[in-house]
Amino acid sequence: RMLKKQTQCCLDIDRLNAAFLAIYESLIPPEEEKMKQELFLMSLEKLVNKEWPEARLYLYGSCANSFGVSKSDIDVCLVIEDAEINKSEVLLKLADILQSDNLQNVQALTRARVPIVKLMDPATGISCDICINNVLAVVNTKLLRDYAQIDVRLRQLAFIVKHWAKSRGVNATYQGTLSSYAYVLMCIHFLQQRRPAILPCLQEMRTTYSVTVDDIQCAYFDQVEKLRGFGSRNRETIARLVWAFFNYWAYGHDYANAVISVRTGSILSKHEKEWTRRIGNDRHLICIEDPFEISHDLGRVVDKFSIKVLREEFERAAEILQYDPNPCATLFEPY
Ligand code: GTP
Ligand code: MG
Repeated sequence: RMLKKQTQCCLDIDRLNAAFLAIYESLIPPEEEKMKQELFLMSLEKLVNKEWPEARLYLYGSCANSFGVSKSDIDVCLVIEDAEINKSEVLLKLADILQSDNLQNVQALTRARVPIVKLMDPATGISCDICINNVLAVVNTKLLRDYAQIDVRLRQLAFIVKHWAKSRGVNATYQGTLSSYAYVLMCIHFLQQRRPAILPCLQEMRTTYSVTVDDIQCAYFDQVEKLRGFGSRNRETIARLVWAFFNYWAYGHDYANAVISVRTGSILSKHEKEWTRRIGNDRHLICIEDPFEISHDLGRVVDKFSIKVLREEFERAAEILQYDPNPCATLFEPY
C-alpha cells in the first residue's frame, strides 16, 4: 500500500508539469528585448568612451546570467583598469555625462553598499544601474550562465523559484530575505545533489577558464557545450523538482549546521567555515557560500525574524504542492 501511495503521489505531481512549463514559458524574455538591451549597451559605451577611452561596459546580473524574466532592469558594470580612480568621483562624473545626453532619472548613489548610478532611457524604456569595477559580479554572472547551458531544468526551476519568491515577498535583502542570486545558487546546488546528478560541479573539474579578481582566483570548467546531456540519466520532471526543492528547504535542510556550497558541489559544515558565531551583523541562520568569495555567506542578510518568515514560506510551498487541489495558483498568490 505504501508503494501504491507513493506512485500515486508521483503521478499527481507530474500532472502539474504542463502548468509549471507554461509559467516558465510566459516568463522568458523575447529575443527582441535582448537585442534592444545590447544596442542600448553599445550606445552607452560610446558615450562613456568619450570621457574614458579605455573603459568597457559589461552586462551582469539577470539580464546576462539567463535567469532574467521579461522587463527586468538591467545591471551594467563599468570597468576602468586604472587602479588610482576614485569610485565616487567617477560615478558623479558619469552621472553628469548621462544627464547631458538626455537620459532620465539619473541619480548617483555613492554611499550605497555597491555604489551605482541609476538611469532610465526614455527611447527604449530600459532602466539600468551602473556600478564600477565590480568584476566579480561579471564573473559570477558567467558561472551562472554556464550552468544554465547544461540542463534546461535549472533555468525552469530557477524561474519558478524566483517567481514564487517575488510573489511571496521573500526576495528583498533589505528586509532580511534572500537575493535572486542566492536563490539561483540554491537551485544549482539542489540539482548538483540529485541522484543521478542533474548538474556537475564545474569548479571541481579541469580548469578551462581562469581569472584573478581582487586577489581571488576564479577557475572552472567552462566548456559547457561538452556537458549537454550530463543530467539525462535523471528523468525527473520540473514539477517533481519544484516539489523536492521546497521539501528540502522546508524539512530536509539542517539549518543548525549545514552550509550549501556550489563551489564544492556538497554540503559543508558551519563549523569548518567558522560560521557558528554571530560576527557583526552576520548571523549565518541560513548559509549559502558564494562560489568565489568563499568567506561570503549570501544568507548573512537573514535575521532571527526573517528566517522565520522564510522557513514558513518554504513550508507553505511544500504543503501546497502536496495537498492543494490547484497548487499552481495558490503557490504564487500575492502575500
Ligand atoms: P533580478 O534582478 O531579481 O532578476 O536578479 P539578479 O540576478 O539581477 O540578481 P540581483 O539583483 O540579486 O544581483 C545582481 C548580480 O549582482 C548577481 O547576478 C550577482 O552577479 C551580483 N551579486 C548580487 N549579490 C551579490 C553578492 O552578495 N555577492 C556577489 N559577489 N555578487 C552579488
Ligand atoms: Mg538585477
